[in-house]
Amino acid sequence: MRHPAIVVALIASCLSAGAFAADKNPVAHGRYLVAIGGCNDCHTPGYAQQGEQIPEQNRLTGAALGFSGPWGVSYPTNLRLSAARMSEAEWLAKARRNGLPPMPWTALQAMSKDDLGAVYRYLRALGPAGEAAPLALAPGQPIPTPHFVFVPQDPSPMLTATPGPQ
Ligand code: HEC
Repeated sequence: MRHPAIVVALIASCLSAGAFAADKNPVAHGRYLVAIGGCNDCHTPGYAQQGEQIPEQNRLTGAALGFSGPWGVSYPTNLRLSAARMSEAEWLAKARRNGLPPMPWTALQAMSKDDLGAVYRYLRALGPAGEAAPLALAPGQPIPTPHFVFVPQDPSPMLTATPGPQ
């Protein structure tokens, strides 16, 4: 090995990176993952309109604003009640399964066990609050709540009438 000092320095930096990950405060890390994962967009009521103005203690309580599509209607779960009811192992199993759109299930499946555990710790630290979201509806059922319609729409007629490039 021609540059043992460099190898030693690289190993030392890997070890210290590992130590940093282990020392990280899981609740703070969970808060960070929720922020970069965009979880509030759907799981916090009113977040689309008020965004970061919503105090943290009111967040992630689920929404009775449904998402309607070919799957029926799904409702963003009250994650604080979910975490309060589940052990960490149950949470990991739940987070790794598949469910209805538009929940980005693949994003959770791609998260490491430690990251999912940190999100769980953050939700537990926030504590249970709010009501359970409505249950999902099968396709064709009447929809008793406000909802987004997740179905592709045609372009505006005015635009389709515009001649394309010659
Ligand atoms: C685009 C909207 C949307 C976003 C963004 C979103 N979710 Fe969801 N989530 C949903 C919906 C809708 C459901 C209910 C799905 C179902 O009924 O199968 C759900 C369900 C879940 C569940 C299942 C909970 C249970 O008790 O069944 C977990 C866990 C979850 N979401 C975590 C997250 C996390 C963590 C993030 C951020 C990384 C996130 N979600 C971002 C819409 C969303």
